Amino acid sequence: MAAHKLLLLPGDGIGVEVLAEVRRILAFIEQKGILSFEIEEDLVGGAAYDAHGVAITDAAMQKAKAADAILFGAVGGPQWDGVPYDVRPEAGLLRLRKELELFANLRPAICYPALADASALKRELVDGLDIVIVRELTGGVYFGEPKEITDLPNGQKRAVDTQVYETYEIERIAKVAFELARVRSNRVTSAEKRNVMKSGLLWNQVVTATHKAGYEDVKLDHMLADALGMQLVRAPKQFDVIVTDNLFGDILSDVASMLTGSLGMLPSASLGAEDPATGKRKALYEPVHGSAPDIAGKGLANPIAMIASLAMALKYSLGKPELANVLDRAISEVLADGLRTGDIWTEGMTKVGTSEMGGAVLKKFETLL
Ligand code: NAI
Ligand code: MG
Repeated sequence: MAAHKLLLLPGDGIGVEVLAEVRRILAFIEQKGILSFEIEEDLVGGAAYDAHGVAITDAAMQKAKAADAILFGAVGGPQWDGVPYDVRPEAGLLRLRKELELFANLRPAICYPALADASALKRELVDGLDIVIVRELTGGVYFGEPKEITDLPNGQKRAVDTQVYETYEIERIAKVAFELARVRSNRVTSAEKRNVMKSGLLWNQVVTATHKAGYEDVKLDHMLADALGMQLVRAPKQFDVIVTDNLFGDILSDVASMLTGSLGMLPSASLGAEDPATGKRKALYEPVHGSAPDIAGKGLANPIAMIASLAMALKYSLGKPELANVLDRAISEVLADGLRTGDIWTEGMTKVGTSEMGGAVLKKFETLL
């Protein structure tokens, strides 16, 4: 059995704690003889800055390029607030996304039945919710040039960010969304602001053209991004796959996250293009949440987002979709048993810490296999 190359990048804060739970599950999968792994590990974010003065080293980037899947914890924290912009912790993640061309960020928002009452919305609005936001991740306003703050003669400052999209960038993300929709409910909603942004107009045109050129079996709607934000809160179950740009996707996926309870529940995948020779994609899996400095080091973090990110890796990179489903079911059943970390705890439930939650999911996983 060929070993799958994994790179673990725990990062900072609770990233380290939640990735430890994934390591236990990986060890179990290997010990069972289901898959074999070649596991590398390295520093990223503040941890890398402290050790090497950069947010990720070239050596770690080499390992990332060789990996079948990267499992990433989280980066950042107040102790690095003052470090120069280009070596701040987030720069490590941005470099990975850019150099591996991880242009498609998949963020599922699933409402586990046991948590429907923990949502910010009424149970009937979210019970059974299962949507995916496909966010463009390597273009748009986070990368466009010019990007600068300049001094004006009058003593004031002027800040510029630039939103840039080219046809190929929109086309390839639209294809990911259409293909994903085909194995789901066959519906895509594309969101932009064509009414006030040229890049929004092009987005709309290219998504429409891509749809016509081979995806007409998928139902496509267009919605203005602000209207979509409203609809996401009013009636989220009307959506299936939502495709949008980097900035709107960042915001809308955070909104979607609150529909399902807690940031601590949300996984994500960032995928690159398929290599035509090997059929493999570069891929990075990470929880949506950050390093949570307020609870870091206390064993309180919810490891489910990280574990569900591993499930996505099993599905999209490691060729084990059925194993991914078992892991997702293990999470669902542990929640149904009443176990809760602090972020999702409600009256009458059993409060547990990071390793107890991770251990319970692993035990359930074992019994379901
Ligand atoms: P955050 O996601 O770290 O935390 C927001 C709130 O949610 C906090 O109250 C935190 O305790 C809670 N929370 C998050 N994940 C949780 C979990 N697994 N279990 C229980 N509670 C959880 O976002 P925040 O506070 O805005 O940022 C903190 C640091 O993380 C900053 O330095 C930020 O730049 C960085 N960050 C890094 C990201 C990444 O590595 N991809 C993403 C978002 C933020
Ligand atoms: Mg965000």
